[in-house]
Amino acid sequence: MAAYSDLVVEHFQNPRNAGEMDSPDGEATKSNPVCGDRMRVMIRVKDGAIEEVRWQTRGCPPAIATSSVASEMVVGWPLAKVEALTREEVADAVGGLPKDKVHCSVLAADALRAAIEDYRSRSQA
Ligand code: FES
Repeated sequence: MAAYSDLVVEHFQNPRNAGEMDSPDGEATKSNPVCGDRMRVMIRVKDGAIEEVRWQTRGCPPAIATSSVASEMVVGWPLAKVEALTREEVADAVGGLPKDKVHCSVLAADALRAAIEDYRSRSQA
């Protein structure tokens, strides 16, 4: 994996927050439109901010690494800030991605946004 940053390799080999969450406040599954790889994300929300994230991703090393990094970086963030998260910010958080792998960072941002949308629709029910 020479083309990847040390952070990508490290998070791919030791993913943080991977797994299931009991009774999440919001959850979503998103597919990457470019390659079809998938990420399921579950969130716990407290006082309008992300308290905890769990995820399951079937994808390439950058998809796993960006899922891991994103699951750490958004903890404590207000929901609106997470909704504004861009794929570039996610890619930067893993030290950048090779040009042909930049699309891989879209999964984490998209899935988190969708999980918040799910949380908001549950809160209105
Ligand atoms: Fe599909 Fe990376 S090749 S997310």
